Amino acid sequence: MKRLKTFGCVFFFAAVVGFTFSCISTGESLRPGAAWYDTNGRWINAHGGGVMHHEGVYYWFGEHKIAGWAGNKAMVGVGCYSSTDLYNWKDEGIALAVTEQSGHDIEKGCILERPKVIYNPKTQKFVMWFHLELKGQGYTAARFGVAVADNPAGPYKFLYSSRANAGVWPLNITDEEKIDNSAEFADGQFSGGDDDVARKMNVIARDFEGGQMARDMNLFVDDDGSAYCVYSSEENGTLHISRLTDDFTRHSGEYVRVFPKRWHEAPAIFKKDGRYYLLSSGCTGWSPNAARSAVADSIFGPWVELGNPAQGRNPYTGMDHSLTFGGQSTCVFRVEGTDTWIAMFDIWRPENAKYGRYVWLPVTFTADGYKVIWEDEWKLK
Ligand code: GAL
Repeated sequence: MKRLKTFGCVFFFAAVVGFTFSCISTGESLRPGAAWYDTNGRWINAHGGGVMHHEGVYYWFGEHKIAGWAGNKAMVGVGCYSSTDLYNWKDEGIALAVTEQSGHDIEKGCILERPKVIYNPKTQKFVMWFHLELKGQGYTAARFGVAVADNPAGPYKFLYSSRANAGVWPLNITDEEKIDNSAEFADGQFSGGDDDVARKMNVIARDFEGGQMARDMNLFVDDDGSAYCVYSSEENGTLHISRLTDDFTRHSGEYVRVFPKRWHEAPAIFKKDGRYYLLSSGCTGWSPNAARSAVADSIFGPWVELGNPAQGRNPYTGMDHSLTFGGQSTCVFRVEGTDTWIAMFDIWRPENAKYGRYVWLPVTFTADGYKVIWEDEWKLK
């Protein structure tokens, strides 16, 4: 009996140690799709995120979600974590907080998604952009929002939100597409994905004066220091790539349409050896679909679509490449000083939003484009 008790105590102790250890980040590797914890042993809460490198430190910004369905609205703001090795993430707190102020653009309960941060060396400011939907208006506002900070982890100060490039035509539009034919579709409902109304309507002409819709988005800084925003526009039917002003806080008015009526979401642009690459998804809301990839020799195109770059299967979701491992892209970034690019995906969990998971995988470049191949566990070289 005594031996049994001792065994029980030892077992219990080992289980507690084991559990505590597994709750603290893995420390030495990346385990896509597993439960990820920060250096305090808490669930990493940075969804739809992006990683920025600054002076030897990586900063991971993302949607800080609460548990349950309510977490699909912004109840807290944008979270930030920091790391020097990309394995161990320290909670830096809330970088941009939503406000209790009624009627404010980023009032608690708005939808604030896919925050991304870039550094502007001229102004020495960190500039955050995100997709913003005003409180109580579903996904109809379709705006981008901008906030700035003096320090990478914040606090960020909200500047403004808006639709994009009002009163300016893109560089690559035809005269036919400039005709506002929206009256013909006055009763039409948009599904947010590929539908007949959005396919036939010149949404860009409808929105010319008020500004173009800006939903899923990302930022990209080119080698010459110019920054761009890529976003799903025109009822999600068409991507826009838009150059930002020198201070990175506004659209410059110089932009192009990419893949008209191809319904791309979750775009991420990256560059290797002078070539531009795009990773994106189709439009199926929180449900996964097949990832997409594209390549171009110039940021403004022409862009050539290459197909689904995913390969392999996620054992946690049981989903393979055809559903992007159960994930949706959110960012691709370079590991400083190396030839490794990391593609980040979210495994959304809308019914319990906080507990969505993360899939980070290395990008494998090929002669034509690239692949993102599943690994259960991997290390940086
Ligand atoms: C996805 C989008 C997410 C979120 C979601 C809402 O397609 O990528 O960021 O907006 O729809 O249903």
